[in-house]
Amino acid sequence: MESEKRSAEGGRAGAAGPVSEVGTIGVVGAGTMGAGIAQLACLQGAARTLLHDPIPEALARGLEGIEHQLERGVERQRWSAEEAAAARERLEPAERLEDLAACELVIEAAPESLELKHELYERLSGLVEASCVLATNTSSLPITAIAAAATHPERVVGMHFFNPAPVMRLVEVIAGDASGDEAVAVARATGGSASRASSRSTASAGSAAASAWARSS
Ligand SMILES: NC(=O)c1ccc[n+]([C@@H]2O[C@H](COP(=O)([O-])OP(=O)(O)OC[C@H]3O[C@@H](n4cnc5c(N)ncnc54)[C@H](O)[C@@H]3O)[C@@H](O)[C@H]2O)c1
Repeated sequence: MESEKRSAEGGRAGAAGPVSEVGTIGVVGAGTMGAGIAQLACLQGAARTLLHDPIPEALARGLEGIEHQLERGVERQRWSAEEAAAARERLEPAERLEDLAACELVIEAAPESLELKHELYERLSGLVEASCVLATNTSSLPITAIAAAATHPERVVGMHFFNPAPVMRLVEVIAGDASGDEAVAVARATGGSASRASSRSTASAGSAAASAWARSS
């Protein structure tokens, strides 16, 4: 049975970066979780955030949802109009998975199917650089099982965001049996580098209480 090491990264941060060492983040799946994660990434995390969904309508819906949230955030004074504009600049649609080739971190929020995720990790393995970390937002599938489809399973790690990602601002970093220290470190740095007052703890799913990519007020 797989033993997974889980830790929560957290703290508070402003809407503007720089909060991550990762320059280009890809998000796969523009649904409930993917759109929320991409919103966090473009507001706070990456120099570029590429959002991919193979279904054009889903991609458009995800982008519209982010745009709506960016506007609402300005209205509610959660971030400035300038910060929203900068986030828009950083966010790019990726119609093809191949568009993610230059990413340093890919966060996968595709449907919860091992078969589907295997196909994705096989394809991603052939697309991205060997140094690219592949993080899955799976709720229930073992990281080790997902990583089995990757050419380099040591680069696969869990980054478990909670729904709604922009509100919950909690990331559990989960290492599978094969996850390398470097992949875990990148996931931690990305989830936790938003922190002004970072707290790091080990926790099992659902018991972690720290927040990451936290809002400014
Ligand atoms: N919804 C939650 O509360 C929640 C919380 C934490 C984690 N998760 C996990 O996040 C992942 C996504 O969940 P969700 O709720 O956002 O699902 P969702 O159904 O809202 O979104 C999934 C998206 O993936 C797209 N998609 C379909 N086939 C794809 C493929 N081959 N490659 C890439 N994208 C594809 C769909 O078009 C859709 O936009 C799952 O692994 C789930 O377990 C969900």
